[in-house]
Amino acid sequence: DDDKDSQLKSPIVVVMGHVDTGKTKILDRIRHTSVQAREAGGITQQIGATYLTKEYIAKATARMKEQTSKPFETKLPGLLFIDTPGHESFANLRARGSSMCDIAVLVVDLMHGLEKQTLESLKMLTDRSTPFIVALNKVILIDRCLDWVADEGAPFQLTFQRQKQHTKQDFENRLSGIRTEFAEKGWNTELYFRNKNVKTDISMVPTSAITGEGIPDLLDLLIQLNEKYMRRQLRFKEKFVCTVLEVKNTIGHGTTLDVILSNGTLRKDDTIIVCGMPPQGTIITNIRALLLPSEASEMRERAEYKLVEEVHASAGVRISANGLEHAVPGAHMQIVPRNLKNSKDHAKRREEIEKLSDEVQQD
Ligand code: GTP
Ligand code: MG
Ligand code: NA
Repeated sequence: DDDKDSQLKSPIVVVMGHVDTGKTKILDRIRHTSVQAREAGGITQQIGATYLTKEYIAKATARMKEQTSKPFETKLPGLLFIDTPGHESFANLRARGSSMCDIAVLVVDLMHGLEKQTLESLKMLTDRSTPFIVALNKVILIDRCLDWVADEGAPFQLTFQRQKQHTKQDFENRLSGIRTEFAEKGWNTELYFRNKNVKTDISMVPTSAITGEGIPDLLDLLIQLNEKYMRRQLRFKEKFVCTVLEVKNTIGHGTTLDVILSNGTLRKDDTIIVCGMPPQGTIITNIRALLLPSEASEMRERAEYKLVEEVHASAGVRISANGLEHAVPGAHMQIVPRNLKNSKDHAKRREEIEKLSDEVQQD
């Protein structure tokens, strides 16, 4: 293995689940943002993306030290989170989000159990053999029960052990109910710190997006599982894989593309091949600017962007170029191989562009 080969990319983590289970709110808690409060009707209607560096995650999981003696250590550069809508009418966006992820967090409302889009999400994850964990969110005992003594941002086990006996029992009863529901669908589940068979039993993390309890556990578990079981998949490869999330106007840049780069490298001045609506068809244009959202911001929002020369997978990045008005979201995007970009071999270049155009138009 050379150096390039042992380089790891950030896992892409898709957050899925039934409407209003708290997917966006969990990300808000992690980012210290209030994206959810600004959504129309509190409903997510687009795919979002948020990048966290390992340094950010180290800080966000610092309180895990109070619960375990393991120091935080990772070779992963960070985590790229994809937020998806839970409303039933956005199944296409859930499918798109789940198609580009390495691992998923299925968010379940502890008080509601398995709901319609929970089951739909489970099916999407199964169809692609995507590994996933479950966040048991809105633990009513954590943030609503009178007897629960909240400890803002605490690891779950730490805060749980301090609760009264009947509060603990109440939680165990609800947990057992959810585990039964999963078992009826053929899934073995277990609280992550009781899970002895991580490869067969789905790990569950109780969370509250309101008090932040269990959030350090969620991030820590994602890092650990990716590090332990996904290394092969997460090796950086030059093969280019990129999906267009959104086509939108950006002040000062005209029509831009929000893309998720899952593999390879994007450079300013690259020639991109983008699926376009008929009658215009395929768009072939040069990247004028690459705009990288600032750390721990939601790409959907009018975030601060910094101009970069190149970006490596995994990343969410905004592309500014001419002629993107008719670009189609949801399709793959390609780049003209850099060795052909200024090649004198026009026939070869044309042939390659035709092949890649067919690929992007097929999506
Ligand atoms: P969609 O994207 O529309 O599917 O919803 P979502 O899953 O992103 O849920 P969202 O973050 O919009 O939260 C829905 C509602 O649940 C909001 O009113 C949140 O304040 C509330 N909520 C989210 N997480 C928690 C939690 O942990 N505890 C409590 N009590 N309320 C929560
Ligand atoms: Mg949401
Ligand atoms: Na919502």
